[in-house]
Amino acid sequence: MRLTNHYLLLLSLIILGSCNAKKEKNAVSLKDSYKNDFYIGTALDTNQIKEKNVKEDSLIKKEFNAITAENIMKSMYMHPAKDKYDFALSDKFVVYGEKNKMFVHGHTLIWHSQLAPWMTEIKDSTEMKAFMKDHITTIVSKYKGRIDSWDVVNEALNEDGTLRKSVFLNTLGEQYLVDAFKLAAAADPKADLYYNDYNNEEPAKREGNINLIKKIKAAGGKVDGVGIQAHWRLDSPSIEMIEESILAYSALGLKVAFTELDITVLPNPWDLKGADINQNFEGSAKMNPYPEKLPDSVQVKLAERYASIFKLFLKHKDKISRVTLWGVHDGQSWLNDWPIKGRTNYPLLFDKELKPKKAYQSVLKLKETKE
Ligand code: G3I
Repeated sequence: MRLTNHYLLLLSLIILGSCNAKKEKNAVSLKDSYKNDFYIGTALDTNQIKEKNVKEDSLIKKEFNAITAENIMKSMYMHPAKDKYDFALSDKFVVYGEKNKMFVHGHTLIWHSQLAPWMTEIKDSTEMKAFMKDHITTIVSKYKGRIDSWDVVNEALNEDGTLRKSVFLNTLGEQYLVDAFKLAAAADPKADLYYNDYNNEEPAKREGNINLIKKIKAAGGKVDGVGIQAHWRLDSPSIEMIEESILAYSALGLKVAFTELDITVLPNPWDLKGADINQNFEGSAKMNPYPEKLPDSVQVKLAERYASIFKLFLKHKDKISRVTLWGVHDGQSWLNDWPIKGRTNYPLLFDKELKPKKAYQSVLKLKETKE
């Protein structure tokens, strides 16, 4: 009799074990839930690219199927001197994506910010043309067939839709934009080429962005998609405005990607009516209301905001190629230090201990009810 009980116990443990293994294997994730809709990406910092943290690495591989390098592929890191390229980290980044069968996005070739100092010294059109040809051709050719899409030009517009003054515009005029897209297409005809910007869901900037892309295409530039960075807030931009933008850009025949999604839960100086935004807000309790933890009421608001945004994305999944969160977890977010240094922000789907937040559950739940 005792023997039978023993075997029964053993059998039930085996069944339980296999159920758990099956449950674990089938554990839902962002990428699996949205696999028939659009890529779900994240931005990797240097340590994540180097696979320094085992827990973060397994979270990234479980949840995401697209990656963007948050910083290391900016020109100051890739092309530190006129005759010097540094591909050490970008090589690691691309290999990371390939071995984990992820969509690899290159950020960014031409951007007025994070330039290597020598680039700011470029004085005339001849020098600038030579720089752009060398810079874009060298970098894009090196990763031909391995980087799936590029932010060819990043943030070339002002808030009113006019072209931002930069070393590129000052030396080449708006021709630099056409040249950038032509050079990238020549170096890798198969890569999807994006124009990327923030606030380009706002009407004036959206109008300027549409006109700019029309001009680039009319001049023979290959523009496959537009990146809406989506550094958003709990209550703005409205779902209607985002929807208008998805429709307006896709009407140009462009893929729409949400390339740097995060949602700040903190007040900013410009939110304060009449605040002198030049005053130093560092250390102000008013500006850093949740230094230790986020109240549940705000977690709920954040979850509802993410749900309404992803509900809209699902409604237009046929127009959307990728949705990338600008970071894996709250602890790495640039929003802890911008626009005020040393704050505690909670803009992403995982907290700084890598635990899924209510916002994560709310994004997954949309798919449960959808199926
Ligand atoms: O690497 C240095 C390090 O050596 C130094 O000790 C440290 C302290 O000064 O700075 C480190 O560089 C910082 C870099 O991030 C890497 O962490 C820069 O100061 C800091 O300005 C830089 O911020 C990045 C910012 O772009 C400017 O490049 C943010 O992490 C990154 O999230 C943010 O991302 C941009 C997108 O590329 C374009 N769209 C807007 C978005 C937010 O600004």
